[in-house]
Amino acid sequence: MIIQNGKTIHLQGRDISYVMFEHEHGDLLHFYFGKKLGDSDFSTFMSEWSDYDSDMYLDNLPQEYPSCGHSDLRMPAYEVENQYGNCISQLKVEEFIVHKGETAQVDGMPYLMKGDKNADTLEAVLSDKTIGLEVRLFYTVFDEYNIIARNAVIINRSDKPMKLTRAYSASFDVYKDDYELITLPGLWANERNLVKTPLMWGNIVEAENGRESSHQLNPFAMLAKKGCNEEYGEVYGLSLIYSGNHSTAAKCEQREEIRIMQGINPHGFEKVLSPGESFCTPQCVLCYSDEGFGKLSHEYHNLYMNNLMRSKFVHEDRPILINNWEGTYFDFNEDRLLAIAKKAKEAGAELFVLDDGWFGKRDNDDCSLGDWVVNEKKLPSGIKGLAEKINELGMKFGLWFEPEMISPDSDLYRAHPDWAIQVPQRKPVLGRNQLILDLTRDEVCEYVIEAVCSVLRDANIEYVKWDFNRPMADMPRPGFNHDYVLGFYKVMGAITEAFPNVLFEGCCGGGGRFDPGVLAYMPQIWTSDNSDAVARMKIQYGTSMCYPVSSMGCHVTAVPNHQNGRVTSLKTRAETAYMGTFGYELDITKSSDEEFEQIKSQIEFDKKIRALVREGDFYRLQNPFEGNFCSWEVAAKDKSRAILYAAKILAVAGSSRNVETVKLKGLDPEKQYREVQSGEVFDGAYLMNRGKRINYDMHDFATVIMEFEEI
Ligand code: GLA
Repeated sequence: MIIQNGKTIHLQGRDISYVMFEHEHGDLLHFYFGKKLGDSDFSTFMSEWSDYDSDMYLDNLPQEYPSCGHSDLRMPAYEVENQYGNCISQLKVEEFIVHKGETAQVDGMPYLMKGDKNADTLEAVLSDKTIGLEVRLFYTVFDEYNIIARNAVIINRSDKPMKLTRAYSASFDVYKDDYELITLPGLWANERNLVKTPLMWGNIVEAENGRESSHQLNPFAMLAKKGCNEEYGEVYGLSLIYSGNHSTAAKCEQREEIRIMQGINPHGFEKVLSPGESFCTPQCVLCYSDEGFGKLSHEYHNLYMNNLMRSKFVHEDRPILINNWEGTYFDFNEDRLLAIAKKAKEAGAELFVLDDGWFGKRDNDDCSLGDWVVNEKKLPSGIKGLAEKINELGMKFGLWFEPEMISPDSDLYRAHPDWAIQVPQRKPVLGRNQLILDLTRDEVCEYVIEAVCSVLRDANIEYVKWDFNRPMADMPRPGFNHDYVLGFYKVMGAITEAFPNVLFEGCCGGGGRFDPGVLAYMPQIWTSDNSDAVARMKIQYGTSMCYPVSSMGCHVTAVPNHQNGRVTSLKTRAETAYMGTFGYELDITKSSDEEFEQIKSQIEFDKKIRALVREGDFYRLQNPFEGNFCSWEVAAKDKSRAILYAAKILAVAGSSRNVETVKLKGLDPEKQYREVQSGEVFDGAYLMNRGKRINYDMHDFATVIMEFEEI
């Protein structure tokens, strides 16, 4: 809901308020973002902001979209080099337009959709007449959520070109109260760690990545009051619907106020706007919770599943898959694949996925990307024939692609060397022996669309794993990274629209492009190439801060684990993988009879719980970044069922150290629940207040799964 009261605008979500107002000199000031306020007239309180009467008054006031170099000398949200050769600008309010019942649309990029929710959008039109600059700020607020989605459109209204060198999507100022910035940095096979950085007077924290949305830093951050935990404390979330080079910048400024902003990374960005031309930033989804991280995560999970992800599969059971990658790597033929598929089908798997190595002459990772033509030596009946044989077994068939890439040793490169991103003066930087196709060019996008679509048209392919296996580098000009992202969205939009019945899973050397922009097109993403159960506890825990558990691809792989050599039991591997989209990635024909029977019952169990895992509320109970235990739970929204996962990482001497009490959440205190496996009955209040005692087996990496059903 949007309440306009004179010069004050009050955006109201379910439990939140966001208030801004037009200052007497026409500047747009930020007034409040936090727990819901009443519909009162705030104008009387605005006098708080009129104390400063010098020309530099803005340097002391909180702002909505801070300008550069005039009367606010703090960190600006945007910067333009104007026709007079300087970077100074100062925006004044022209008008406020309220779009009732509408969400903001973002040019060329995914954004939140209205769905069946009620949403309104404020468009604040600002301008700097001296330099002919116009900025339109969009704010979408949903009645049902605690979020404010922001983006900006920057327009050159002058008759000379104007160079935009910085264009954040959202910025706001809060008064210092011991905040820390929490980010999700990492690297390959160790993505989305939880890292807290205190914000101290004068320090600036610029969390930026410089490539695709990346293993190194996820486009999600939280500004949390010190001591904030899963249940208590105030926290703001910032999540960028974007797959490129991003930045979250926070600075504790002169009066110890914190200015925080999120958007495209200014390092490596610029856009020259011709007269009349505009630039649209990606959407930044702000969220506020006064009940800690748990409530914040629920907001993002529900919002992204219902109002961002477009795939028809979002609320459907995802097929339990078997993928041949770690089972065979490049060493396969049709018989070997069919043997794996047959055995997996006997165990109950529903989808067979053929990974890398099916095309061109690709027997290792140094060739053929771009040549999406089947290797008939390995697969004599082609993809079509293989898919038919898999279908005859009663399974769906899925295929791996890496469509944005090109190998120097490929027919595509020999025909179009200029289609690869490279800087003429330098030897191109290879990553995993490959280059990236230049998706800023229309003809290259068209090639990629047609190359993938023709394979999809030709065979019954019901799932695609869309990979991206090297970092973006060698950007030929500032702003290229952003243009690339627009090309990627164009390609994804065209292919997913043409094949709405294909389930797409994103991948990027594991979890290097796990972001809301990708999720808009592909409802699940391979979470990490590291499939070791213990490493996965942290990776999945960190990822769940912003992303729904159903969006995380989680597979059971062989031991010793191929990434870190750790040996964990099949039980531990499966139980850790249940809280995601479940599957296997091993050569099941090599399993012993006992392992095979175990796999069979794991698949049966996942079929029973997968709808609950997908649709329920996810609670983090014990943090593996902070201790020897990791536990989480999914509770049905109607509180009728719950699944508890609990893990003890290392065994400790002494039996009492292997017992741990875990307090469940999201149950009805009045209801009685039966623990399905043991048959024991507990009431909800007991499970949530006193907690369930877990007796772990006396060894490392011991896990338990418990299912509770209302009686
Ligand atoms: C990436 C993916 C893996 C696999 C390989 C194939 O590393 O993350 O799952 O698909 O590529 O080359």
